Amino acid sequence: MDSPVETRRFVLPHVAAMEGYVPGEQPQGGSFIKLNTNENPYPPSPKAKQALVDAVDDRLRLYPDPTGRAFRETAAALHGVEPDMILAGNGSDDVLTILTRAFVGPGDLAAYPTPSYLLYSTLIKLQNGREHVVPFDDAWRLDVSGFLEPGVKLAYLANPNSPSGTALSPAEVARLAERLECPLVVDEAYGDFAREDCVSLVKTHPNVIVTRSFSKGYSLAGLRLGYLIADPSIVHELNKVKDSYNCDALSLAAGKAALEDQAYLAETRAKILATRARLADALSELGWSVTDSQANFVWALGGPDAEATFQELKRRNIFVRLMRYPGYPTGLRITVGTDAEVERLLEVLREIA
Ligand SMILES: Cc1ncc(COP(=O)(O)O)c(C=O)c1O
Repeated sequence: MDSPVETRRFVLPHVAAMEGYVPGEQPQGGSFIKLNTNENPYPPSPKAKQALVDAVDDRLRLYPDPTGRAFRETAAALHGVEPDMILAGNGSDDVLTILTRAFVGPGDLAAYPTPSYLLYSTLIKLQNGREHVVPFDDAWRLDVSGFLEPGVKLAYLANPNSPSGTALSPAEVARLAERLECPLVVDEAYGDFAREDCVSLVKTHPNVIVTRSFSKGYSLAGLRLGYLIADPSIVHELNKVKDSYNCDALSLAAGKAALEDQAYLAETRAKILATRARLADALSELGWSVTDSQANFVWALGGPDAEATFQELKRRNIFVRLMRYPGYPTGLRITVGTDAEVERLLEVLREIA
């Protein structure tokens, strides 16, 4: 068998030089409280589960609809856009990959803020592109001019942002889009928990592309489904880039039913927002500084030693995410769990404070 050193030379040099994206820990088996990858603590809509079961029959012998027409019609109706403005993907990560492959070539510049979603860097590096990183200020605002580096081919903005949970208003995003000469990807993976969204900007600003996920608001991280909303001319081009059958029949069926059950989304969302407020208040009382989160997690900084707290929580089978960004203090990103999970977390934090 070839040694790793010998096989590595077959790989494109820019890929061999990369670290690769490291997803949050996914502990298997055992009993633990998992607050590290922003999954939803509540089950998916019963209607989505039923649609999944109903889709398990002999039709699985056939390839799925390549562009998920029925799913796109439902998503389009929900957002008040046309079905040809929707493109579905195998999670919103797949959608982000398609976008990066379409817009960023070797040597091209792509911009994203920091601290933010680390996958943007990985996707740019995979294209052998160059990164232009724009820092958030202390109040989690962005200096728009920071994005205006000549030659930027694509800009990403997680809104709400991770790890901060903070969000720019649609008016601020519109101002950024107006000054950019390239597409602006507004990554709304956490949009279901936010006060506002940027979907309407797609119609007024053709360079705005909004991405959405089923992993957070719809409790379907295990299914892998996401989509984007963009000008039809952009979607037309992106269809050439995606894998022919990038979404399977089961995901498309369950995703459609989940979108149709907005009452269920509203119910679980309300519970998560109430728990988020309690968690943020309690962390502040314990000495942490907590950002104004519009997502299903909070970002806690400046309290007791973050690394030691993370390790002690882990020892007690409570998983949160320790995140380090150069130039920023190390913090804990804590997913909003059920009330019982958050109570247990707080009990331990009080004990070890
Ligand atoms: C900002 C952001 N965008 C996108 C994703 C990916 O979501 P999906 O599960 O739909 O691929 C995540 C996942 O954590 C995220 O934090």
